[in-house]
Amino acid sequence: MNCLQSWPEPVVRVQSLSESGLTSIPERYIKPTVHRPSVNTEFHPHVNIPVIDLQNIFSNDQTLRDDTLSRISRACREWGFFQIVNHGVSHELMKNMREVWREFFKLPLETKQEYANSPDTYEGYGSRLGVEKGAKLDWSDYFFLNYMPLTLRNPSKWPALPTSCRELVAEYGNEVVKLCGILMKVLSVNLGLGEDQLQNAFGGEEIGACLRVNFYPKCPQPDLTLGLSPHSDPGGMTLLLPDENVAGLQVRKGDNWITVKPAPNAFIVNIGDQIQVLSNAIYKSVEHRVIVNSGQERVSLAFFYNPKSDKLIQPMKELVTKNRPALYEAMTYDEYRLYIRRKGPCGKAQVDSLKSSR
Ligand code: OGA
Ligand code: NI
Repeated sequence: MNCLQSWPEPVVRVQSLSESGLTSIPERYIKPTVHRPSVNTEFHPHVNIPVIDLQNIFSNDQTLRDDTLSRISRACREWGFFQIVNHGVSHELMKNMREVWREFFKLPLETKQEYANSPDTYEGYGSRLGVEKGAKLDWSDYFFLNYMPLTLRNPSKWPALPTSCRELVAEYGNEVVKLCGILMKVLSVNLGLGEDQLQNAFGGEEIGACLRVNFYPKCPQPDLTLGLSPHSDPGGMTLLLPDENVAGLQVRKGDNWITVKPAPNAFIVNIGDQIQVLSNAIYKSVEHRVIVNSGQERVSLAFFYNPKSDKLIQPMKELVTKNRPALYEAMTYDEYRLYIRRKGPCGKAQVDSLKSSR
């Protein structure tokens, strides 16, 4: 039986709640004490995830090239997260994408409701992840759309307004897919593989890619809730375009949550669960979450670059040795993703549940 056809409860738009001017948040959004933002959020104003300049990635000077590769290698091992600048994507395009989505969320509720999503595909305008009745909810709305493969790309499900939205999404997707292709080569080489091997393990040209635009409305009691609960990204790799003005993303470092300070015109890159599996945990997908605030709303664009959905994903044989046996069982991304779509964000419970019994 497929239990993903509809939401278990009427959908409430967090933006509507926020704009109704309430001064305390509904019970459904109040997290248990241990999960609240203040716990283990020491303030580390001087700590940030690494910022890496990509301009030398194709340099003829091997020393410069190797230096960039080793910075990325270290960031993948130590953080699972890094920011990239001089990545080649037009800053104008990035700015226009942020702007057009900010405008989308400003449209009247009825207009957005035309795109209301359901849990069978998640495509469209949504306000929750997971279909567990009575689950605690996060303080955010989102718009989710498929970009790749082409068979799943359906621009008529993308917002018709603002009028430039569809065109911008197509252009942005094209640029970001190219950039992800470059990063895949870098990661592959850094893992000691041939430069195309990681991409081939994803299915070559037939990758999946989707965009989730997150909208975090102002919250009257930001200390009691989260914009997005702790999770690792289930897919391959994520390129996040954060809000240029409002911080909110926190990355787990040991027992602490580090607030990311976005660099100008940067993308935030993070490793997803599928690369953790393929790399046999040389690279790990790292937990992250989003905090909200009472002063400003926040918009972020998460572009997920994923393996072909029916390709079996398992530790690459070059990375399995006598001393480091395969840590995970094989599974397709289609099968894997169902778990999250039922349960919602759940830390690293899912990839951990894949652990091989051998
Ligand atoms: C996500 C995510 C972070 C953010 O969409 O998976 O982690 O800053 N977003 O919105
Ligand atoms: Ni995420």
